[in-house]
Amino acid sequence: MSNSFYSYKVSNGHGLPHDPFKSIIAPRPIGWISSKSAAGEVNLAPYSFFNAFNNAPPIIGFSSVGYKDSVKNIESTGEFCWSMATQPLAEAMNITSKPVDSGVNEYELAKLEAGSPDEVSVPFVAASPVSMECKLTQIVQLNNVSKEPLDT
Ligand SMILES: Cc1cc2nc3c(=O)[nH]c(=O)nc-3n(C[C@H](O)[C@H](O)[C@H](O)COP(=O)(O)O)c2cc1C
Repeated sequence: MSNSFYSYKVSNGHGLPHDPFKSIIAPRPIGWISSKSAAGEVNLAPYSFFNAFNNAPPIIGFSSVGYKDSVKNIESTGEFCWSMATQPLAEAMNITSKPVDSGVNEYELAKLEAGSPDEVSVPFVAASPVSMECKLTQIVQLNNVSKEPLDT
């Protein structure tokens, strides 16, 4: 008789071909986050650790596994945009997930038009059906169970 129940202790490893964590908590919306460096370079990248956290005022958030450029940029400029990634935009979204050399514009790389924002200086994805112009409220450093900061 087969037993379909499976459990594991995180500290011992999952023992499976792939880490099940991200596929268990699914589906997740994608936070397609655009930002600008302090030097003015535009950046665009997808984040699936993303969601809405409050409605009045509207607050959204995403989690960077490590201290990635999107967080660095938002920390230094205080601004970003979120654009909804839909099925027709999936391929372009994947292109924007790859690391690029400094000076490469990810909108041009993924053949995406940059929409002009009203409230911030960061362009959004014009082809997306929904975008939000955002201002930073806080950056939270995640800790492990020993209350030590996760690697950055
Ligand atoms: C669908 C998808 C979802 C992703 N979600 C995340 C995420 O939640 N957190 C994260 O750190 N990286 C995530 N990544 C990887 C980042 O997009 C990738 O590391 C990117 O280069 C980060 O760009 P940045 O350094 O310009 O911010 C995801 C990639 C894809 C394709």
